[in-house]
This record gives sequence, structure tokens and C-alpha cells, in this order.
Amino acid sequence: MTHFLDIHKTDVADLNNILDQAKSMKTARAGLPKGTPDADTPLANHMVALIFEKPSTRTRVSFDMGVRQMGGQTMVLSGNDMQLGHGETIADTARVLSRYVDMIMIRTFDESVLLEMAEYASVPVINGLTDRSHPCQIMADILTYEENHGSIKGKKVVWLGDGNNVCTSFLHAAGQFGFDMTFAGPSILDPEDEAIGFARSKGASVSIERDAEKAVEGADLIVTDTWLSMHDKQSARERRHNLLRPYQVNKDLMSHAGDDAVFMHCLPAHREEEVTSEVMDGPQSLVFDEAENRLHAQKAVMRHCLGL
Ligand code: CP
Ligand code: NVA
Repeated sequence: MTHFLDIHKTDVADLNNILDQAKSMKTARAGLPKGTPDADTPLANHMVALIFEKPSTRTRVSFDMGVRQMGGQTMVLSGNDMQLGHGETIADTARVLSRYVDMIMIRTFDESVLLEMAEYASVPVINGLTDRSHPCQIMADILTYEENHGSIKGKKVVWLGDGNNVCTSFLHAAGQFGFDMTFAGPSILDPEDEAIGFARSKGASVSIERDAEKAVEGADLIVTDTWLSMHDKQSARERRHNLLRPYQVNKDLMSHAGDDAVFMHCLPAHREEEVTSEVMDGPQSLVFDEAENRLHAQKAVMRHCLGL
């Protein structure tokens, strides 16, 4: 069974094959109306369940479109409307869904839900974001960087703000794809030690900086994300905003990085909070390419999982 649970749990050769396939599938359908099926439809006769226990725009629409373009069908399910949200165990849900569908993508809260689903499902399970990581996003981000600027290997990626789930997947990717990472944020929101340890164990350099301007010097890629993730308590909003304000990505901060640096954000963005509109809509921003590339990267992830 080939699941896609995290970037550090997937073989480097497989990660590279996924990116290569994503690039060629994207090129092959360039300019076609979005609803046109791909020339090759490997998911024909396949049903994919897309389960959401948290809101989503990009993940929901890109997975749904990706399956359709590859000739398959989808069932979009809200965790709340399923027995999953009303006491049936994850293991039983996994066993039951495996009798109906060919693959499961799940967005959930605690990582244990994803891991239990993968343990008991007899079909591939894909991580569509947990409180801890967001691997599909970072596959799209690497694809986006590389199609604009060549290999990410050896580049300097600077993460600003909260060391959250998306940051964790970036650290996993630093280890697997061989780029260096600098984190700049308040110490209380540092990324998890395990992800830092993984990146370092693979030879990536990981630095922690408290000074945003110093952190972005020489950066090739600058990344940030919301200051309050879906799993964070609303009551933490004011405190987090106060702690994170010095790490806002604005034009002044970008000028310390140089003209060649590019900007990414997984979206949804909170304009004028973690990033200004001037940067989001500016010439260095790749945010909408990233959003598009969720589609292409995930199509290749799904093919990898199904061996098609
Ligand atoms: N970036 C991302 O995963 O967006 P959604 O929450 O809209 O799916
Ligand atoms: N860190 C954000 C990412 C959203 C795609 C969250 O978990 O809410």
C-alpha cells in the first residue's frame, strides 16, 4: 500500500518522480479548458473520497479537478456529516471506506487520525493537511520554485512567522531536496524539533534567527503563512499577532533579500497581516502559481499512490 502521509516518509526518488510527472502532465494540458480530461486517463473507473474535517478551498477544488481530469470520480465528504464525527472509530471508518472507494484524501486535526486511517485502510491514504504537516502544499511549492528558478537544491529558503504545519513540511522537504532553511519568528513559535532534526540529519542547514531583516539576507525564497492556523484557538489571536508583527513580509523586508528572491504563501493569506498586498501582488510573488500547482502536483501524487 502506497500512502502519501509526509514528505520525510516518502522516498526521495519517488518525490522526484512525482515532480517530474507533475511537470510533464502540466505541460501536456497547457491551454486546454479546465474541464477537459487529460489525454491519458489513468483514474478511469476509480472513485476517490475527499474527507474534510476543516475548511478548504484549494485542497478541495484541486483534488476534485485533478481526479476528474484523470478520468476518475470523487466524493467530497465533510467529517461532521459522517459517523466519523459522531463516535465511530477511525479504524472502522477506514475499513468501511476501503470497501467503497479506491483512495482516500483526508484533511483533519490531530495527526493520529491520519495515521490510524492509513493503518486500517486497504486503499492509499493522502494527507490533505493535519495540525502537524501539509505535504501536498510543499510538493506544489517545490514544483513552483523549480519551474521558475531551476533546482531548489542548495538554495536558501527563509520561513517567517509561525513554525506551523506548513513550516514543518518545508523542513521535511529541506532534508529530502537538499536546500537550507532559516526560520525567523518568536521563540515560542519555533518549528518542532523533530522536523529540524530530520532536515539536519539529511545534511540541510537549519538556522533560527530572531531578526527578520538579518534572516532574509541572501534568501532565494521567502515564505510565510497565517498567524493563526485552523487548529489554533481564536483566543490566542491577539497575543500571536503581537508576537508575530515584527515578521510581517512587506516591501521593506523584501528589499533586504534582494531582487532575485521570490515570495510564496500557501494561502489563504490575511492581507496586511502576515504579508502586505504590495508583496502578494508584486513581481516577486508566486502565490497564484503555487495555488495552480496544487492541482498538478497532487495529480502526480495520486498516480504515485495508485501505481498508475
Ligand atoms: N493552501 C491550502 O491548503 O488551502 P485550502 O485550505 O484552501 O485548502
Ligand atoms: N497553517 C494553515 C495552513 C492552511 C492551508 C492552517 O493550518 O490553517
